Amino acid sequence: MSTTSTTSSTSTASTASAPSAAAPVPRAVLAGIPAYVPKPPSPPAQGPSHRLFLNENPYPPLPSVREAIAEASARTNYYPTIHPERLLDALARRLDVPSAHLVTGPGSVGIYQQIGQAMLEPGDEVVYAWPSFEAYPIVARMAGAVPVEVPLADGVHDLDAMADAITARTKAVFLCEPNNPTGTAVGAAELTRFLDRVPGDVLVVLDEAYFEFYRSPNAPDGVELHRDRPNLLTLRTFSKAYGLAGLRVGYGVAQPAIAEALRKCSVPCGVGRIAEEAALASLRVEAELFERVERIVAERERTREALLGLGWEVLPSETNFLWLPAGEAAEPVAREWESSGLLVRAFPHSGMRVTIGSPEANDLLIAAAKETAPPAR
Ligand SMILES: Cc1ncc(COP(=O)(O)O)c(C=O)c1O
Repeated sequence: MSTTSTTSSTSTASTASAPSAAAPVPRAVLAGIPAYVPKPPSPPAQGPSHRLFLNENPYPPLPSVREAIAEASARTNYYPTIHPERLLDALARRLDVPSAHLVTGPGSVGIYQQIGQAMLEPGDEVVYAWPSFEAYPIVARMAGAVPVEVPLADGVHDLDAMADAITARTKAVFLCEPNNPTGTAVGAAELTRFLDRVPGDVLVVLDEAYFEFYRSPNAPDGVELHRDRPNLLTLRTFSKAYGLAGLRVGYGVAQPAIAEALRKCSVPCGVGRIAEEAALASLRVEAELFERVERIVAERERTREALLGLGWEVLPSETNFLWLPAGEAAEPVAREWESSGLLVRAFPHSGMRVTIGSPEANDLLIAAAKETAPPAR
């Protein structure tokens, strides 16, 4: 080993002045992976614009959270702990789970990368609904796994079809409840029936990024469900309800064997000190943050009712966004609304996903929808 590396470094040195045309080649699977971040809509040249395309929280951090961020910023010359131990302890108390059941990451997308590294081998199959969260095909392909996409039925997860899609090669199922981009949910009874059908050696990743916005009395609680299901990993995030998308903190809850495997694959110190302190401070003022969530939910219902009243089709939502299945009209309408400062996300030939923003942003959206003829159904 040492002989080889000595030889190669010697040969590199001797050819340094005559570079060859050869170049390092990234892994072949990357060729099939699209750029993850969608191109943001362009704001109008003049006037205010509203970011309604990434399901962000329209409210900035509360003053005590900003203070915690400012204090932590004075200590950024020091590394954080390898895992954010204080946050892990606080989450363990908050969720009433042992900290050995927890894993954190730089956003829940960070934990998806850990899932790919810890759980997926080339050739494994990963079942998920489509359309759903855009990271799923990327995570599967990046690991060399085979994505198995099961179409939504009328905008909702078709859990029977997903269970039928599980084969002996299936290693994981990704299930977004409620679903991004449609906002729809299946509910606890259906979900439990599905989980009962999944073989014990198949990991189910229950993505609850929008858990705090889910108001149906039949909403599942993945943290509770994980207690007697060793193949369930529930993911949550500080990005949405807690309004910390810019700081990147997500967490997962699973039984110790899975949680430990994922922790082994986390980037050391991947949740920085500022992010950890902001998340801790947010847990301390959770009641106030959840009042904001309540306002967003009320705005969601008000906005949906208004759009329905104007003749637009809008799916029921359990999230902080609405899905308008506008089909071919999605892109032209989104472009038209961009010019009035409403930056929404168009899914070509399919629909528009519109984040619930501030009340003024939602009023502007309703006004724009009044000016635009809804697509024929
Ligand atoms: C379903 C779902 N999961 C995960 C995420 C990513 O969240 P995070 O900011 O924690 O990486 C999103 C973000 O939009 C999402 O919609």
